Parts: sequence; structure tokens; C-alpha cells
Amino acid sequence: MASIDINGISFNYADRGRGLPLVLLHGFPLDSRVFDHQLDHVSRRCRVITPDLRGFGRTRSDKPFSLDDLADDVHQMLGRIDALPCVIGGLSMGGYVSLAFAKKYPNDLKGLVLIDSKAAGDTPEGKQAREKMAETARTAGARAVADQMFPKVLSANTAESQPDVAAKVRTIMEHCPPATIAHASLAMRDRDDHTGDLPSIPVPTLILVGEDDALTPPDVAEAMHRLIPRSVLRVVPDAGHLTPMERPALVSQTLVEFVEKVEAGASFPYHSEPTETGGTGW
Ligand code: MLT
Repeated sequence: MASIDINGISFNYADRGRGLPLVLLHGFPLDSRVFDHQLDHVSRRCRVITPDLRGFGRTRSDKPFSLDDLADDVHQMLGRIDALPCVIGGLSMGGYVSLAFAKKYPNDLKGLVLIDSKAAGDTPEGKQAREKMAETARTAGARAVADQMFPKVLSANTAESQPDVAAKVRTIMEHCPPATIAHASLAMRDRDDHTGDLPSIPVPTLILVGEDDALTPPDVAEAMHRLIPRSVLRVVPDAGHLTPMERPALVSQTLVEFVEKVEAGASFPYHSEPTETGGTGW
């Protein structure tokens, strides 16, 4: 793990491998450890960078922020470590930040990855729920928030058959600083609706979604796929909202394939062929 000072905040990030930078942004209320498998495995093929966003994981900060601030943090960090242009992607909230990044910094973008995420903003009811969650974090702490979120994020299959994954998710959630949970909830409440931007995303885009994702279900991913011209959609079997942790090998392999297609200048969308050496065979 490395750290770098940006705007008075010491950002914690992992940076492994060589070649085209693939930046992966974690979801809420999580941290960069959701991409541990991808950091280990995808970095054999390209450069993988997994930051802890402002206030999360080991990037300590109690300053409020917007999702655009998170995109700016990442952009500054990548500039400083010579990792632009890049493929940027994120899980759920990390996907919202990636969409903000794509809009603000199109010239620094080689590709986009949206994992269990969506482009739409919050509904009025959703905004109220964000305020309630911010209040819960402030008054009852991270464990109370984890009690609410944890039951929704994993597929039933993962919860039953992968107790180590479930324990890791729970631990990360319970250790997220309450102030960060509150700031992130309000930042998500106020985020832009990027649906109208999707048809003009110029870069190759990979959309991944767990087939049992209860928070951002496959039909939401399919709708984005229809709107983003050069996109491929992969629905990951036996996974809920945290596909990089629930089906780590398949997600890593799919990312490697995507990066290879981007690097090769392949035409998008592409179709994968099963291979004896372990192609994804979607
Ligand atoms: C996440 O996993 O990042 C959250 O589910 C995003 C959200 O609450 O909208």
C-alpha cells in the first residue's frame, strides 16, 4: 500500500502491475479491499490501482464531500502517479464516481467499467432514506448501518456458501467511520443523474451485474447497456451486489479480457469465445 497527499488528505492506495492503468473504485460503506482479488490477479496483465476514497478505509478525513470531489481526488492522484489516461471503473457508489470522472475528464479516459451500479439519481424517497442513513450513522454508528445494509448486499448463495466473504464485508462495513457514512449518504443524495450522458460516452464500457443483485438489478444494467453505444453487458451468475468479492475469479478474468480488447483497439461490443486456457466464455 502507498499513500499520497492530495489537498491535505493522505490517500491510501494500492498500485500493482504494469501497462494500461485500470482504476477500481470501491462502493459504500466499503473500501479498496473489495478488489483484493482483482488487485492480485488482474495486475498480472495491466496496472491496477485501487484507492481508498476520501474518508474510507485508511484514507482518513472527516471533511464533507460531493461525488464530484471524489472524482477530482482520484483525478489528481492519478495525475501525480502518472496513471492517466486510464480505464476507470467502480462498484456501485464507485460507479457513480466513475461516471462523474468520465463526464469531467473525457480526455483522460480509455474505458469505463460499471459494476453493480446505475446512472440514475435518487428518487425523492431515496433522498429521504439517505438522510435517515446519515442520521443513523451519526447517532447509532457504523454497526447500525451495517445491520441495515449487510442483509441486502450478498446473494443468498454467497451468504450461505462463502462465510469468509460475508465476514469480510461485515467487518469492512462496521469499521467505516460514521462521519464518512453520513457524508457519503448526503453526497449520493445530491449526485447528478447521468442517464442523459450515457449515449455520448465515447469509450468502450464494460457493465457487470450480479444476477441476484437486489440493489441495482440486472434490468438497470440492461437499460444502461442499451444507452451506452460501445458497451458490453455481463450478468454474473450466483452473485448479488458485490460481484468482485462474490465471484472474484470470473470478475477478474472478465476485466482482463476487457482491458485486452481496449488495448487491442477491438470493435465494441465484442463476443467472448470460450478457450481452453480459461477465456470467460460468456
Ligand atoms: C454501494 O454499494 O455503493 C451502495 O449500495 C450505493 C448506494 O447506496 O446507492
